[in-house]
Amino acid sequence: MYMRRFGLKMRFANRFAGGRIRRRLVLLLGAVALGMLAAGGDAGRAFAQAAASRAPDVPYEPTPHKVVAQMLRLAQVREGDVVYDLGCGDGRIVIAAVKEYGARGVCVDIDPQRIRESRVNATAAGVMERIRFLEQDLFATEIREATVVMLFLWPEVNLKLRPKLWQELRPGTRVISYIHDMGDWTPQQTITVQGRAGERRIYLWTIGSPQVR
Ligand SMILES: C[S@@+](CC[C@H](N)C(=O)[O-])C[C@H]1O[C@@H](n2cnc3c(N)ncnc32)[C@H](O)[C@@H]1O
Repeated sequence: MYMRRFGLKMRFANRFAGGRIRRRLVLLLGAVALGMLAAGGDAGRAFAQAAASRAPDVPYEPTPHKVVAQMLRLAQVREGDVVYDLGCGDGRIVIAAVKEYGARGVCVDIDPQRIRESRVNATAAGVMERIRFLEQDLFATEIREATVVMLFLWPEVNLKLRPKLWQELRPGTRVISYIHDMGDWTPQQTITVQGRAGERRIYLWTIGSPQVR
């Protein structure tokens, strides 16, 4: 009798103790899981921040197609050229250079949406395989290979870009900018075109010429 009671007590005690341990284990695991979730959330956020680029320096505004044609003519784009558009938007300048003149091209834009559009447009134009698409900051882009660089940015961004153009581009490379000049880099040629909101200018410089320093 005593032994039976003792056995029952032990079983109860074991179960009770087991229940407590289980509860503690569950609580502990819960805390660990919550901790991991929190850490995972932070890690996820940090990862997302690292993956996402910074905001564009200039908002998107496409160059009118007629003006694109004039920019390409001013640059005298030809077969064998490698045309970079630094901040390419929907890719229209590079796509036209490849399609109309047989050049190769590189579309650079920090905005993933613009790069997606560029790819879709290049595919529709049948020139996808002659264009590289770089979703990245133009200031962190290797541009040595370019023979023509197209710009439609802002005045201060042009000025900030000048040393990079001067250091990385080879002599003879043409730089074209729609609307904005390059401070005291005297353009080799300027033409006036009809922009969306009236008359605008397109500027041409050639790397290695005395005006470009
Ligand atoms: C005024 S739009 C010109 C678009 C195109 N070049 C055209 O003429 O139709 C400027 C483009 O530059 C891109 N952009 C701005 N800052 C940039 C940066 N730091 N790196 C790469 N792209 C940038 C914007 O996302 C936008 O698509």
